[in-house]
Amino acid sequence: MPSKQASVPDFLYGTAWKEDCTVALTQLALRMGFRGIDTANQRRHYFEAGVGEALAAAYRAGVVTRDNLFLQTKFTYQRGQDHRLPYDPLASLATQVSQSMASSLEHLGTDYVDSFVLHGPSSAYGWTDDDSEVWEAMCKERDAGRARLLGVSNCSLQHLEQMAAAHAVAPAFVQNRCFARLGWDRDVRSFCEGRGIRYQGFSLLTANVEILHHPVVRGIAARANVMSAQVIFSLARQIGMLPLTGTSNADHMKEDLESLSLKLSQEDVQTIEFLAG
Ligand SMILES: NC(=O)c1ccc[n+]([C@@H]2O[C@H](COP(=O)([O-])OP(=O)(O)OC[C@H]3O[C@@H](n4cnc5c(N)ncnc54)[C@H](OP(=O)(O)O)[C@@H]3O)[C@@H](O)[C@H]2O)c1
Repeated sequence: MPSKQASVPDFLYGTAWKEDCTVALTQLALRMGFRGIDTANQRRHYFEAGVGEALAAAYRAGVVTRDNLFLQTKFTYQRGQDHRLPYDPLASLATQVSQSMASSLEHLGTDYVDSFVLHGPSSAYGWTDDDSEVWEAMCKERDAGRARLLGVSNCSLQHLEQMAAAHAVAPAFVQNRCFARLGWDRDVRSFCEGRGIRYQGFSLLTANVEILHHPVVRGIAARANVMSAQVIFSLARQIGMLPLTGTSNADHMKEDLESLSLKLSQEDVQTIEFLAG
């Protein structure tokens, strides 16, 4: 285990869908100041080894050290993968979890991750025995020091309630696509809030394009002399979320990080929070 461990940063840089640009964009994000990196051992959408290459380059260049980075990866069921699996599909789910973790650590050039997330429950309709087997295996990874914190992604309130009923170990994080029309995932957020679970929101811009371009949001942005995207990220933070951005653009990286110092009035927060649902 590490001597020092990074606290959870205020922003996570997401590395999905970057393919050959993963190395350069992850390095750029680190140089721009991101200290939280989100990836997954799911070659279909992420190039985790590329993230590791970027980390190694950033360490060599003195941009960052492992101790002040927050690294998050995920275990993905075979259904969410293509043929490039990080585990033996014939092995038990528990073994798949440990093989996926071993492969992530190798990709990322580290002996622990800060957060290990179940990419999504096995069924949209509820927490299953398979999920329980996977969660217990993830808990073992944590107990062995290979993951500091655990999380679940793409889950409904029902998943979380059933998970809580089945397991003593609660997730430290829930990572969900966040729709404004669902009150920015209000039900799941309030479940998390009551239990000290940190809510990570993704697709904050892409799932909410109508809000991004809404005259009310544009007006708030104009008054504060910022971009609408910055208003959305600031809102996210002010309603308790840890936002993700996967921008490929250096100016957007800068803007996104600058939104950390943007403080919306309580009235503006309320207005945007209830604008669509
Ligand atoms: N758990 C899961 O199942 C799951 C699913 C999806 C995503 N994620 C994670 O979340 C990360 C983020 O994904 P996302 O779905 O939120 O989408 P995203 O990859 O962050 O895409 C944001 C889009 O908005 C555009 N954009 C315009 N202005 C922007 C600004 N100021 N800041 C940021 N983007 C701006 C970006 O274009 P430019 O590139 O030109 O800025 C990009 O096309 C992923 O990389 C991944 O790590 C997790």
